[in-house]
Amino acid sequence: MASCYIILDNASVAVALLFATADEFPYRDPLTVTLEGTNATDVEALHLGSSWTLIYSGPTGIDPARNTYMQQQDFSNTIAFRSYRLLVTSQEGLSNSVQYAEAQILGHV
Ligand SMILES: *[C@@H]1O[C@H](CO)[C@@H](O)[C@H](O)[C@H]1NC(C)=O
Repeated sequence: MASCYIILDNASVAVALLFATADEFPYRDPLTVTLEGTNATDVEALHLGSSWTLIYSGPTGIDPARNTYMQQQDFSNTIAFRSYRLLVTSQEGLSNSVQYAEAQILGHV
């Protein structure tokens, strides 16, 4: 599944996700995601499976509209992390790829 890592200079507390759809191919839209955190910052360690803590598992809020911000997905989290991993766990339709215009992880230090 498609994933990406974000490594921050300072630990911060993620409390919401906000996605925007791409301009085409609705069947590539991500439907559900997981967001995980860790304080590990070494890229090698992250790839080798640092112990990730699950912060969010649920819908992206994406719907058929193109190039559009969707409903912000709020969640309760009080733990600060240095690194985040965003995994797309399901998508709208069958495709060899997933596509979105933007994914924001909203939070505070
Ligand atoms: C990660 O580091 C931050 C800042 O030092 C700390 O507040 C937080 O509790 C740590 N998170 C975990 C899961 O240990």
